[in-house]
Amino acid sequence: MATKLDRKRILVVGASRGLGLGLAREFLRRGYHVTATVRSAISGGGLENYYEQLTLDTLDINNPNLTEAFLERMKSKVFDLVVLNAGIYGPLEKTLGEVKVEDISHVVMTNAINPVRLAEGLVPTLRPETGVLAFMSSAMGSLELNANDASELYCASKAMLNRLTRAFAAAHDYLTITNLHPGWVRTDMGGLNAPLDVETSARGMADVLESRAGGGGHEFRDYRGKIVPW
Ligand SMILES: NC(=O)c1ccc[n+]([C@@H]2O[C@H](COP(=O)([O-])OP(=O)(O)OC[C@H]3O[C@@H](n4cnc5c(N)ncnc54)[C@H](OP(=O)(O)O)[C@@H]3O)[C@@H](O)[C@H]2O)c1
Repeated sequence: MATKLDRKRILVVGASRGLGLGLAREFLRRGYHVTATVRSAISGGGLENYYEQLTLDTLDINNPNLTEAFLERMKSKVFDLVVLNAGIYGPLEKTLGEVKVEDISHVVMTNAINPVRLAEGLVPTLRPETGVLAFMSSAMGSLELNANDASELYCASKAMLNRLTRAFAAAHDYLTITNLHPGWVRTDMGGLNAPLDVETSARGMADVLESRAGGGGHEFRDYRGKIVPW
């Protein structure tokens, strides 16, 4: 087990529940120091046993003032891994014609624009050479897989995230970047019928992220390490 001084460090944005909380728990188990952001009180649990390894911070990625203050607080930090996990499914209506304009804007800003803007601000916190930056995407954003059984808006927002991160990666070609597909997971978003539990997905994604250290380039991988087509 790593001691206080040699612990690796991870930042998980959007860790109040679901996959973000699962990733925080998994990396605490692996001996990391975890900085976990929430918008309000943390739900779920199991983190209280790890208070020595855990820093909780607050961030709503859609709030520019909170984001600026958060980046200021992160300025002196160094992370081995940064995972931008926050995301929303948005309205359940399937077609764009049914969705309100404000909902379109909310989904696109949360799932595509603000994760990439935040990443820009966090680049200086990544450990040189071995740091890994990860965006929580979805196979539903893959143009090639062309999932057609879900909200068009959600799929399009993850496709947009993928596209924006491709451009981001080209502009930061010295970084190691991974877009993740966690599988279909039983969370508030994934619902009760999802085949995977949070622990299995988080364990798989943690293995993928650790294996990427120092690897370079930009990849889209699922929780089993398989390449997902863009
Ligand atoms: N579950 C799946 O099957 C699945 C499949 C593919 C991809 N994903 C992706 O995985 C990620 C996590 O999904 P999940 O299933 O764990 O969903 P979830 O249970 O609904 O959790 C979403 C998380 O994102 C946070 N969040 C939402 N909007 C935010 C904002 N503006 N600022 C900061 N945090 C915000 C939530 O915080 P609050 O508690 O404050 O709302 C919560 O911690 C998402 O990006 C999702 O698109 C999930």
